[in-house]
Amino acid sequence: MSTLTQSRAWQALKAHHQTMARASMAQLFAADQRRFDNFSLQLGDLLLDYSKNLLTAETVKLLASLARERDVGGQAQRMFDGGKINISENRAVLHTALRGDQPVSVDGADVMPQVRASLKRMRDFCDGVRGGTIDGGRFSDIISIGIGGSHLGPALVTQALAPYADGPRVHFVSEVDGAALQRALEPLKPATTLVIVISKTFTTGETLANARTVREWLGRSVGNDTAGKHLSAVTANTRLALEFGVAGERVFPFWDWVGGRYSLWSAVGLPAALAIGMDRFEDLLHGAHEMDEHFRTAPFEKNMPVILALLGVWYNNFFGAASHVILPYDESLALLPAWLQQLDMESSGKRVTRDGEPVDYDTGAVIWGAPGTGAQHSFFQLLHQGTRVITADFIAACQSQLANDRHHSLLMASFFAQTAALMHGAPDRGFPGNRPSNSILLKKLTPHALGMLLAFYEHKVFVQNAIWGVNAFDQPGVELGKQLASRILPELDGKGPAGSFDASTNGLIGFYKSNR
Ligand code: F6P
Repeated sequence: MSTLTQSRAWQALKAHHQTMARASMAQLFAADQRRFDNFSLQLGDLLLDYSKNLLTAETVKLLASLARERDVGGQAQRMFDGGKINISENRAVLHTALRGDQPVSVDGADVMPQVRASLKRMRDFCDGVRGGTIDGGRFSDIISIGIGGSHLGPALVTQALAPYADGPRVHFVSEVDGAALQRALEPLKPATTLVIVISKTFTTGETLANARTVREWLGRSVGNDTAGKHLSAVTANTRLALEFGVAGERVFPFWDWVGGRYSLWSAVGLPAALAIGMDRFEDLLHGAHEMDEHFRTAPFEKNMPVILALLGVWYNNFFGAASHVILPYDESLALLPAWLQQLDMESSGKRVTRDGEPVDYDTGAVIWGAPGTGAQHSFFQLLHQGTRVITADFIAACQSQLANDRHHSLLMASFFAQTAALMHGAPDRGFPGNRPSNSILLKKLTPHALGMLLAFYEHKVFVQNAIWGVNAFDQPGVELGKQLASRILPELDGKGPAGSFDASTNGLIGFYKSNR
């Protein structure tokens, strides 16, 4: 048995689970008039209600003991202090410094001067592009090319904060799908389009293929000499961006201590900053910083990300719940489930501990989701009456982004009704209820509140992995598919039948080649 499953706190939770597995949430509410007050937390304009869960004060106490035994506080402090906690890559993990205001050292040097210089460069660039004073002319449209962490964060923020957008139109290209790229380019004029290639490594096949095609598209229209004025890059590999043809003053660097899926807060956020302006982008950073400070200082029992993470561990490891659904009741957060999927599943999809020992407990759950009201009419049936317990986060803003939105009460009524229905069910109709959910309410979806929300989830993922003892900051599994793709590509262009793979892969390649 591992030290985690042997630990005193784990064993106590296992025993406590025997009781809680038979508990009724409705009865817990009936027995405690103050249950909402006791099991909800507020930070600024963000409320977390976690009362609709199978827990009591005893559960919270035992879960907090587990977090203490696993030294979650110490592990978090090492992250904030610039410790090289990404041990497999020997890197610090400092996305918090990107929105911080205190000196932090990596290899003996404070990173904050570089962070501030990068923000200043972003501001100058944004002002130049938005004001039409940048060399290259007036840009009405931006194309952002990137994938994974170099796409999902800026795309999510740009979409979520669309009501604040007063800059050029921003379009995102991510998939290496020629038809999708063509559709994105069709309505655009190269002469008034600025291209941003975002890639931490500047080696990602999908991104480079799209970037080359777009560079040609620019060159054909404005000429190869002028194309450079329409190109910029955000990367931790400046050398490759320069070799690609991006001018030095248009390369926005970031650092190996920023993980791809945590990179939104760096110059990777440039497309969003161009859309909403640098002041609002900095409001986003301030919101995230407020959550960082809360996470760093609040006691575990009052700490929002810690509580959300402990609930994740409680259901994942003691109730066997393998699936967690994200339900924004706000279409502007439609990309939140996808962003969170990468954040959580790329971080938590690990089967060995930091010491290389196989785990004897489950780690990352399957994260998925969609905007709430549409989902009610598609997959909610399974949440209510399916045989497996699926835990849920409901997320919404109290105020609509529209000044006068007659639909907003309807939207919110659906939110509240669904969380109540999941809990109460209708036992006489074979609808057991007792299904857990968290409710997260923002006052309004402002840049600041969005920053808080995203950092909230980042720290949730951190805490879960700190408890499981796995490295949340590498992604070795993803590399295998990339290597195989580069072996398969030449086979697709070759004349003979594919023969060097398994029978299924050879058969699929053969079918593709004879039908293309
Ligand atoms: O999918 C693996 C991955 O490395 C992600 O972690 C990353 O966000 C994505 O690819 C894109 O990588 P890059 O920013 O280097 O192009």
